[in-house]
Order: sequence, then C-alpha cells, then structure tokens
Amino acid sequence: MQIAIDGPAGAGKSTIAKLVAKKLGITYLDTGAMYRAVTLAVMRREGSFDDQAAMIKIAEECEISFSDRQVFLNGEDVTDAIRTPDVSKHTSDVAPVSEIRDILVEEQRRIAKGTSVIMDGRDIGSVVLPDADYKFYLDADASVRAERRYKELLEKGTDQTLEEIKQDIIQRDYNDMHRKSGPLIKADDAVVIDSTSMGIDEVAKTIISYIDQ
Ligand code: DC
Repeated sequence: MQIAIDGPAGAGKSTIAKLVAKKLGITYLDTGAMYRAVTLAVMRREGSFDDQAAMIKIAEECEISFSDRQVFLNGEDVTDAIRTPDVSKHTSDVAPVSEIRDILVEEQRRIAKGTSVIMDGRDIGSVVLPDADYKFYLDADASVRAERRYKELLEKGTDQTLEEIKQDIIQRDYNDMHRKSGPLIKADDAVVIDSTSMGIDEVAKTIISYIDQ
C-alpha cells in the first residue's frame, strides 16, 4: 500500500503521516527532510546557492538515511540541524533544481518499492508515486499554519516572531507552487482535507476512515 500526503508548509503533514504510519504499521518517509539535508550539506560545504552545478554534485554525494525519528546525513544525526530557520529558507534554493529533485525522487521511489509506505511532501501524488493507492492534500489557513510552527519552534527556543514565521511560510508556499520542476500541486485524484479547525487526531482518523472504506 502506498499513501501520498502533499500540502503546504506547516499543514501538519509529517505529524499526521507519522501517526497514520504507526496505526497502520507501515513505513513513514519524510521527503522534506531529504531536501533539508541536501540544503544543510550545501551550507556546511560553504557552497553558494547560486552555483547549481556545485549543489548537484553535493546532492549526488549525500547519503541520507532514516532511523525511527532520526535523520542522518553521511552517518551524522542531523535531525535538529535540518530544522533551523536558515535551512528552511534555503531549501527554496535547492528544491527547484530539477537534477537534485531527480536524485531524491529516485531514492524515494527506491525506498517505496515493495513496501507499504506513507510519504509526505509536495510532489508525492503528482510525481513520486502517481499510482499511490491513496492521495491526500492537507491544507490549512496560513495564519493557523504559522501558529502551529511557532509553537513547535518555541519549544526549541526560537527567536523568530510569529509574523516572521508566517511570512516565511507564505514565501515558501509561493516558491513551492511556482517552480517548474515538481511544484506543489493537488493531484487530480487527491482528497483535500482542510485542517484549519481540526485537531491532529481528527485528521488522522479522517485519513484512516478513507483507507478503511
Ligand atoms: O516539508 P518541509 O517543510 O520539511 O520541506 C522542506 C522544503 O523542501 C520545502 O520548502 C519544500 C521542499 N520539498 C519539496 O520541494 N518536495 C518535497 N517532496 C518535499 C519538500
């Protein structure tokens, strides 16, 4: 079984996907973490985000792996390092590069092959798993998404204001929707769930009820 969850930043995709994966006993793959890991690798090598050829080479050399809730880049645990505001911002320089998308999409399909998986991202239902058994497009009002992100980041000690986070989210959504390669779109056959006034459990239940049908 393959389940695709797409949607804008902060819609709750990864929280929901983790819950559903646990309930169904299937693999969860956070594809955003892969774009973030490549972004972090470029930053660590002090690469320029204007130099696409150099970024592609770095992406080719990245070994990204997952273990339970952790993300590893070339063997190093980068679970927290890939969530900084700087990394979030620069993913918009990495994610439009079609050669980098090709590398990551190939890896995502390899992981999904022959196993039951729930994947979240921007292009899962449209590009990565176009034949997925279930596709969901999770959306929510931008202010609500910003508030959720803000609460999450506060726990980790952010110095960003709510308004800054909201502006970052709006900019990132715009970039994700308007790039040529693998833009954020709702697949024609995706079920739209607006989580603006829904709790996490309610969204997870809604998704599971579609799968149970
Ligand atoms: O879901 P996230 O916020 O962790 O994603 C980080 C960035 O990666 C986001 O700006 C969009 C990009 N991304 C993408 O282009 N394609 C995906 N399948 C997943 C994420």
